Amino acid sequence: MDSSTIKARKSVRTFNDRPIPDEVLAKLEDFTKHDTNPFGVPVTFKFLDRKRDGVSSPVIVGADTYVAAKYRRQEDAELGFGYSFERFVLLATSLGLGTVWLAGTIDRKAFERALGVGADEVMPAVTPLGYAADKRSLRETLMRKNMRADDRAPFESLFFMGDFDHPLAESEAGGLLEPLQMVRWSPSATNKQPWRLVIEGDKVHFYEHKTKGYARESTGDIQKVDMGIAACHFQIAAEEAGLPGEFLKEDPDLRTPEDTSYVTTFVTSAEAPRA
Ligand SMILES: Cc1cc2nc3c(=O)[nH]c(=O)nc-3n(C[C@H](O)[C@H](O)[C@H](O)COP(=O)(O)O)c2cc1C
Repeated sequence: MDSSTIKARKSVRTFNDRPIPDEVLAKLEDFTKHDTNPFGVPVTFKFLDRKRDGVSSPVIVGADTYVAAKYRRQEDAELGFGYSFERFVLLATSLGLGTVWLAGTIDRKAFERALGVGADEVMPAVTPLGYAADKRSLRETLMRKNMRADDRAPFESLFFMGDFDHPLAESEAGGLLEPLQMVRWSPSATNKQPWRLVIEGDKVHFYEHKTKGYARESTGDIQKVDMGIAACHFQIAAEEAGLPGEFLKEDPDLRTPEDTSYVTTFVTSAEAPRA
């Protein structure tokens, strides 16, 4: 899993009928049994079949295989889920498969039944698995256009230096440029991009800018799942940039913009990580 896979990933909702070879499925299944995340959240995956398990999504064309996953309610569970499920998505991408995170546009009851979701468990999202069709369905093309799926918010509206009053320009990001760009290119629910990062010396503080009315009982705080995806991308690219580190709770108590709350801090163990 590396930055080139992060850059190559795009949501796929229209699939062709090429079957997934058994050895590819075996690799993916094996991964799900051992996938871990730095937030210590166990994530349980299950491979499902459209016909056998009666699962479907109105926005997906041509996929027979789906993967659903769940966590048990605990602190930072969404963060760990986002991190782990995105690692799975990136592995599938690196194996040539198409995926799309689906939290809203699914037959949620059918998926939860097929996965077996207990009272203290949450299934935030699922993905289809398969090979991308040459041409997107009209519906998918329109969805991408509506969500501006090929675009991301400007760098300096997402990343800051020291506090939220000082936007960080790309030209000032130094060794953190690539990890920050990989955060920027993360997928997020309806492409809302809730991540806001503040750099402070050897620390990068992650904040969630919440869209009103998004958190639901069924999906948990889905934008905190987006934050886990961003954390995954950041750590992969930071390691590549020679900045290994870990996620810790080190809330700097900054004055935050409206609807923005502290989530976690990446503390690098390398020398001179500064932007
Ligand atoms: C947590 C999460 C939930 C999502 N839920 C849906 C969904 O229910 N239906 C859908 O079509 N796309 C869904 N998406 C995909 C986003 O719309 C997509 O990632 C975004 O538009 C950016 O496009 P890209 O993934 O091609 O970069 C979801 C993405 C994330 C991360």
